[in-house]
Amino acid sequence: MSNFATPRADSEAGFTDADFEKLANMAKKKFGLSLSPSKKPLVYSRLSRRLQVRNGCSFPQYLELLERPEEETERLELISALTTNVTSFFREEHHFDTLREACLPDMLAHAQSGGRVRIWSAGCSSGQEPYSIAATILMSQPGIGQYDVKILATDIDPKIVKRAEQAIYPAEEVASLPEKTRHAMFDHAEGSATVVVKKQMRSLVTCAELNLIETWPFKGPFDVIFCRNVAIYFDQSTQQTIWSKFADYLKPGGHLFIGHSERVTGDAMKTLKPSGITTYQKLVQ
Ligand SMILES: C[S@@+](CC[C@H](N)C(=O)[O-])C[C@H]1O[C@@H](n2cnc3c(N)ncnc32)[C@H](O)[C@@H]1O
Repeated sequence: MSNFATPRADSEAGFTDADFEKLANMAKKKFGLSLSPSKKPLVYSRLSRRLQVRNGCSFPQYLELLERPEEETERLELISALTTNVTSFFREEHHFDTLREACLPDMLAHAQSGGRVRIWSAGCSSGQEPYSIAATILMSQPGIGQYDVKILATDIDPKIVKRAEQAIYPAEEVASLPEKTRHAMFDHAEGSATVVVKKQMRSLVTCAELNLIETWPFKGPFDVIFCRNVAIYFDQSTQQTIWSKFADYLKPGGHLFIGHSERVTGDAMKTLKPSGITTYQKLVQ
């Protein structure tokens, strides 16, 4: 970064409406993110840190840098800065009840007759969602690991995917879970400040990087898709494209779980029907 060698203070960097618009267009094109003008102060504060890391370059210089082919890592830093990875184990717990009560019996029967069962946690953040799925399944059906049952966990942010893969969490983060769940899910070495998800649960989960607005390098079909609190960042047309793709990737009778403030609209509703709180089921034609 020799061309940005002179450090500048945040307050000097400047962030015009035109800079914001350029950044918003880039975020929409590359990541599907919708940044309304009201987000300008938030974006300013989050990107100021990146500007400091990049030798105090100005916003226009930073925008120019983001366009360079060799700056893939910085583009990924940008997505980390613009999105939130907030998540928790068994977030929106009713979805896990539905998974156990409405989805699991059919999935188990299918697996026992030699079929493939596939579940996708799309926008999995640091892994709490896919491991909650694994725990729900294994705590109800401890023998399911012997069948062809897999959970794919994907996120656009490579750093967060690595954390999901490591499956190590602060002990205090899981302290409020019921004791039975904690024991079933985690190994906790005496006196350690962290816990690790048990191998049996980790082995159901495969973590990978994936930008949902780019081509998906697999065909599915999936029995269940969780995509919660992700599409909320996208504009309506991107959301509807993603919902339609999820509908296409679901097996007939399969379930889609979305975030509490999201709603499926558009063409996807030609093949999906609401089947509970922020839950949809693919029609069986
Ligand atoms: C708020 S977290 C939701 C985590 C989890 N699904 C939950 O509900 O607890 C949103 C996640 O979406 C990811 N994300 C944002 N844009 C994405 C995109 N275009 N493709 C894939 N993941 C994306 C972020 O990196 C972040 O980890």
